[in-house]
Amino acid sequence: MMIPSQRHLFDIPDDVAYFNCAYMSPLMKKVVAAGQEAVALKARPWQITPPDFFSTPELARELFAQLINAQADDIAIIPACSYGTATAAQNLPVGKGQEMLVLQDQFPSNVYPWRELAVEREAEIVTIPRGGNDGWTPRILDAIGGNTAIVALPHCHWTDGSLIDLEAVGRRCREVGAALVVDLTQSIAALPFDVARIQPDFAVAAGYKWLMGPYTLGFVYVAPQHRDGRPLEHNWIARQGSEDFAGLVDYKTEYQPGARRFDMGEGANFMALPMAVTAMRQLLEWGVEEIQETLSAMTETIAARAAPLGLSASDPTMRAGHFLGLGFPGEVPAGLPERLGQEGVYVSVRGQSMRVTPHLYNNEADVERLIDVLASAL
Ligand SMILES: Cc1ncc(COP(=O)(O)O)c(C=O)c1O
Repeated sequence: MMIPSQRHLFDIPDDVAYFNCAYMSPLMKKVVAAGQEAVALKARPWQITPPDFFSTPELARELFAQLINAQADDIAIIPACSYGTATAAQNLPVGKGQEMLVLQDQFPSNVYPWRELAVEREAEIVTIPRGGNDGWTPRILDAIGGNTAIVALPHCHWTDGSLIDLEAVGRRCREVGAALVVDLTQSIAALPFDVARIQPDFAVAAGYKWLMGPYTLGFVYVAPQHRDGRPLEHNWIARQGSEDFAGLVDYKTEYQPGARRFDMGEGANFMALPMAVTAMRQLLEWGVEEIQETLSAMTETIAARAAPLGLSASDPTMRAGHFLGLGFPGEVPAGLPERLGQEGVYVSVRGQSMRVTPHLYNNEADVERLIDVLASAL
């Protein structure tokens, strides 16, 4: 079912066509209000009680879990994608000479931890190159073998939205006993992802893009077999019985249940969590499949309208519907995003691709503005 434009929920002037959700989403008005209320609450700390350290984090866990068909127990609260991938790197076995697989031009937060680990364990990084008309998946499947320890991927590539069939990759990983780590930052809540079908070991998401939340707050799904792992840090809330503030120096070796041991320190973030909760409630109300369907139609329209200007888009079956990468006949013209920005059109360039990443705040007038401004800029 298609969702009509939800621009009224956002504070976006009519002369701004913001097609840059892959960079960061705008906050909804009600998310801003939740943040303002949360900031004001810290001016009255006597109204913040010990149960509040647990109730909002639990709610956030629950809502994030619903987005990926998981349970609250499976989810830890983290500050950044890099924290989630570092947690995975610290807890996955890799032997000398084994391989870790990433994509060419993958986002650095899902590359650096593996490079570090490769040095530490004398293991190898295998980078799947771009190219070919059949997309990433066949080359990823070919590269996974008996010597593969970890496959670290996104659901769609952050430069151009090219899609990876994670269900097929997950199946292949299980066949050879490799771990699957997924960075959902550029797809969460916009492209359906189901932990039951894909069975990742870890699935990480930063929250300030498609989750429409504040900066410095994200989530990581941790599969049951890794729940006795070692957290990156040792914060007191993650230990068993931390609800009893008077008894905190009765130090515990046991942790809170599920994935909670992997929570960042001060995960009970009183300012960021109410904002994230408000945003995730709205995303769930819209529905991830409906968001994908609506944004797919929008990007297909844009791709069709951009083609006569000489801009090419990949086959819609090879990319995520919410994420359009437009290619130029030659190099991307220098300064193009800045020139578009002067006309109130916001996109971004990553590599050789101009990313056009809409959300439900966009409308037909935005598409017209994008095409008009592109036509005069090219
Ligand atoms: C694919 C992807 N992962 C992660 C991030 C953000 O990473 P971090 O939360 O570590 O800053 C981005 C930001 O652009 C991204 O595109």
